Amino acid sequence: LTTKTLVIFPVLSIAPSKSPNTDRKRSHDLRLEEACGLARAIDLDIQLSYILPIRTPRPSTLIGKGKLEEITSQINAYDIELVFIDAALTPIQQRNLERAWKVKVVDRTGLILEIFGARAMTKEGRLQVELAHLTYQKSRLVRSWTHLERQRGGVGFLGGPGETQIEADRRVLAEKITKLQGQLETVRRTRRLHRKARGQVPYPIVALVGYTNAGKSTLFNQITNADVFAEDLLFATLDPSMRAVTLNNGMNVILSDTVGFISDLPTELIAAFRATLEEVAEADIIVHVRDMADPEADNHKQAVESILRDILEDVSGTTLLELQNKIDLLSEEEKQNLSSNPPAETYLQGHRDDLVPAMTIQISALTGEGQTAFLNALETLIGRSHFERDLELDSTQGEALAWIYQHGEVLSRDDSANLTIHLRVRFHAAQMGQFEKRFGHLMQGAKEKLAAE
Ligand code: GTP
Repeated sequence: LTTKTLVIFPVLSIAPSKSPNTDRKRSHDLRLEEACGLARAIDLDIQLSYILPIRTPRPSTLIGKGKLEEITSQINAYDIELVFIDAALTPIQQRNLERAWKVKVVDRTGLILEIFGARAMTKEGRLQVELAHLTYQKSRLVRSWTHLERQRGGVGFLGGPGETQIEADRRVLAEKITKLQGQLETVRRTRRLHRKARGQVPYPIVALVGYTNAGKSTLFNQITNADVFAEDLLFATLDPSMRAVTLNNGMNVILSDTVGFISDLPTELIAAFRATLEEVAEADIIVHVRDMADPEADNHKQAVESILRDILEDVSGTTLLELQNKIDLLSEEEKQNLSSNPPAETYLQGHRDDLVPAMTIQISALTGEGQTAFLNALETLIGRSHFERDLELDSTQGEALAWIYQHGEVLSRDDSANLTIHLRVRFHAAQMGQFEKRFGHLMQGAKEKLAAE
């Protein structure tokens, strides 16, 4: 921890009422807490943090003169090097505040960009962040300078010696942006190829999603025993990481951990964020991990589901499993309340094209409670869409055998003496259809067995 930081969450204050609005106060406290979480995510050393009521936002500095001076003395007293204002500052406000306080000032978008930059691990992630950064800079540049240009009368031609500094800067940024977009497209193309190759690995993909800090990485680690960066930081995982996991019934799945969702994501960052979630759209099962101990749990659920609706092409074709996590932090009564709201009700109310969890399970990723129930639920849900078959092939059917190894999962194989091969294979519904089409005529009399209910 190095940079000494002041965190301010500004709120528009309205006329004081007789009875203080405790709900609003509570939600402000939570926002401040979230802001501090963001700052800690890039190891900022928070010296002081508070909610700052603002009666009239000033276009030049946001904050009024009196407050501004008060903050100057705090900055001196605490040796503050950075002020994080959890709001959207105009470029002019940011510049004026930096001048008045003589320290660096960042707003919400600026800070989240820093976090994304620090967390991006894949090439695509890094490029996306860089692109978002440049776009952010470009928009600031344009807005903060136009009025000056107008004062100067402006210079009417592009490029060349008469070009203003702002035009030159803007052009350099635009060129960098174009170049980055090109690189990004190349990376994406390669990734699509990889994914296509992986598509032939017939393991179902299970994607963990959830609001930031819900406990996805903790669960992922517990199940895979992998050492994925789990800590009490927002955005501990920007790029999805994947591991193969063998369930109790011998079935293999690929478990994929994804970046935490966050509401109020600045628009510049939405694309960068989406890119990290492409895996989710391809998942066979989406596991929504929820922090039930968070007072904002219901709002977070809505935020996550609305992002899922955006990402998924076909919501009705998605299998969703809801994990109510952190139940170790709940009282007996709160747990009772959770269980007395059975998911069956949502089934009845839910529209057909809406996201409705097929199952809801209570767990604690920390203590391990509910883990078995979760894994069993995965078996059941995957079982619904995967089929097991017993096949008999003779030595002339090499092509079919190769196809099976490539597209299905061979559970057991028995090469008997009379040159027939007995296979027990698990296919996904779609692959089974393909298999039928290509080789069905060779399989006359083969015994089929559906493992699914
Ligand atoms: P992002 O990467 O930011 O999206 O977070 P995440 O969803 O991966 O959360 P992570 O696993 O990093 O967990 C966040 C914090 O919650 C950590 O401090 C965990 O130790 C804690 N945590 C996770 N699961 C539980 C749980 O079941 N009970 C309790 N008490 N704490 C938990």
